[in-house]
Amino acid sequence: MPNIAPQVVEEVHSILGGFVQEGDTVIDATCGLGRDTLYLAQCVGERGQVYAFDIQETACRQTQSALQVAQMEKQVHIICENHVNIKKYVQTPIRAAVFNLGYLPNGNRHIVTKAENTILAIQCCMDLLLPEGIIILAVYTGHEGGKEEAAQIEQFLHQMPATSWQAIKKQIINRKNAPELYLLQKK
Ligand SMILES: C[S@@+](CC[C@H](N)C(=O)[O-])C[C@H]1O[C@@H](n2cnc3c(N)ncnc32)[C@H](O)[C@@H]1O
Repeated sequence: MPNIAPQVVEEVHSILGGFVQEGDTVIDATCGLGRDTLYLAQCVGERGQVYAFDIQETACRQTQSALQVAQMEKQVHIICENHVNIKKYVQTPIRAAVFNLGYLPNGNRHIVTKAENTILAIQCCMDLLLPEGIIILAVYTGHEGGKEEAAQIEQFLHQMPATSWQAIKKQIINRKNAPELYLLQKK
């Protein structure tokens, strides 16, 4: 039987899989262990491009080795930089962007994404997004500052003009600190 609440990573991949096509350009704004980057690299194939950002060198290295093992380095640019600088590196229109927020799994729990940076980076992706393209945000609320980040992101998405954007929120409502999933699609 299908599960109405799959794991966040699975759900994000299943949504991305419905949009991203071979040859596309896409962004992973927080590459971490490289799970989303690897999935995107599979989707876009050798003709496409994935731009993967992370502020931590350890995350960039882990993403690099995940790609090496899968022999998918060709189509990925790993950029060890704050995602607020996305537009310095990406000028091509993108089909999708993914933000998996919070801290690096098994890493330093004090290095976390911050709403002010996340919102600036979302704005960069919105400018680069193709019509009907999507931005997905997986937002975790269990760590310090997580709830505040989620609230600011929601407030930002809430005021997107409905004539040009569709913004959706999905969350398990009977589990404490359940992650929040936000989808933003350009009309
Ligand atoms: C939950 S992890 C990402 C998990 C990853 N998508 C994966 O598949 O394993 C969040 C990541 O965001 C990174 N990060 C935090 N602030 C950032 C920023 N301003 N720009 C880019 N990356 C950032 C952290 O270093 C951390 O690796």
